Amino acid sequence: MKKVAVIGAGYAGLAVSIGLAHCNIKVRCIDIDERKIGQLSQGSVPIHEPEMEEMLRRQLAARRLTFSTDMIAGIKEADVIFIAVGTLGQEKGAPDVTAIFSVVDTIAQHVRKDVVIAIKSTVPPGTCEAVQARLREQVSSRFVCDVVANPEFLREGQALRDFLEPERIVLGGADERAITVMQELYASFSAAGVPFYTTDWRTSEMIKYSANSFLAMKVTFINEIARLCDAVGADVKVLTKALGADPRIGNQHLSPGPGYGGSCLPKDTEALALFARQAGAPLAIIEAVIESNRLQQKYVVEKMKREWSSMQGLCITVYGLAFKANTDDMRESPAIPVIDQLLAEGVQVCVYDPQAMNKACEIWGERVRYGMDAYDAAVGAHALVILTDWQEFTELHVDRLERIMAEKVIFDFRNACEAGIWRRHGFRYIGIGV
Ligand SMILES: NC(=O)c1ccc[n+]([C@@H]2O[C@H](COP(=O)([O-])OP(=O)(O)OC[C@H]3O[C@@H](n4cnc5c(N)ncnc54)[C@H](O)[C@@H]3O)[C@@H](O)[C@H]2O)c1
Repeated sequence: MKKVAVIGAGYAGLAVSIGLAHCNIKVRCIDIDERKIGQLSQGSVPIHEPEMEEMLRRQLAARRLTFSTDMIAGIKEADVIFIAVGTLGQEKGAPDVTAIFSVVDTIAQHVRKDVVIAIKSTVPPGTCEAVQARLREQVSSRFVCDVVANPEFLREGQALRDFLEPERIVLGGADERAITVMQELYASFSAAGVPFYTTDWRTSEMIKYSANSFLAMKVTFINEIARLCDAVGADVKVLTKALGADPRIGNQHLSPGPGYGGSCLPKDTEALALFARQAGAPLAIIEAVIESNRLQQKYVVEKMKREWSSMQGLCITVYGLAFKANTDDMRESPAIPVIDQLLAEGVQVCVYDPQAMNKACEIWGERVRYGMDAYDAAVGAHALVILTDWQEFTELHVDRLERIMAEKVIFDFRNACEAGIWRRHGFRYIGIGV
């Protein structure tokens, strides 16, 4: 049986590790973060991801999955090494592949048998080729180290389900044997009918960036249409249903909101736009998507400002801080620029999120108040603002809220709630594009 090492125990690396162990593969997951590895070894998942903890404990109990900070031991025993470390750059547009190359250098020094290195992280076109060249320079000719691009398409909030039931598996490489090793590893997926796309490194790398950029474009398109619906008095909720009924368009990723965020879409659109410019083939659409997403984050605040002559001194409660529901991830969350704008307007902000409160404290410290729950957060508020469509925000007791708020106003920037219920309680309900 092949032994697998997964390097990087973040959102992607954990889903890969637990998912592969679930498929009966022996996995050692390695990270430099000792605290994280300690928690995971004890069966505790340091991120919020549905089903993950339960499945982690099952794989630990079955001894198919282990966690370690000892990269060298992991490298020596593995037949396949997945690299799933972060690539989030400091500078806009430029992904940071330093962690990838640092891992590759360690592999090169300590590899003791033939190994396939699968790059799970999202990397710019040309990276896998550069990784292969680096290995060729450093590794003794006694061992074969082949690089395969194997981009990951999972979504946070349903990472395990997406990993285990993918729409496709992409394998890019220059060596047939390495591709075959990966196909064997994923045998249960091909048996389940998952389509495989086998190609070269650069095409694989481009597939991932194109997929994320397309998704960002779709979200941005409907955000712009929602702004126009606001301007002309049309209803974007009905519009999206009719639009999505056309299978060429499809109804997913067609809900307006405060702009896309997270660790992937902003980073990957910026990166694709940058490589395209550098390659002399600029992508006007993606450049426009990036700009339009910024406008959307401003637009929701502009919409709020229209309700009062001044926002100075108002108490506003923000529900939902994570970049989307079912995750605690606040990286590039639209809540950050929205709340920063409110603070700049002199608003007293109170925040509440079912999972992202610790991360919020790191961002705003004492500049905002933190609600113990949705009701505690709403005490004395002049308005509520929904930025993330957690289910709990669609099930709020409006009668309870009307008793504790100073003014009855709700901005539902995910169009998540039933407007009629709020209006029956005398609330001014303001959605987006409705
Ligand atoms: N998060 C997602 O939804 C998602 C989906 C698909 C692809 N990806 C891609 O996967 C990659 C990882 O993303 P993520 O969200 O899991 O990141 P993350 O920040 O959650 O996790 C990265 C992990 O790598 C570890 N790490 C960093 N340097 C290391 C090193 N030298 N050795 C060992 N471990 C190291 C960090 O400690 C961290 O635990 C990125 O390229 C991302 O674009 C992410």
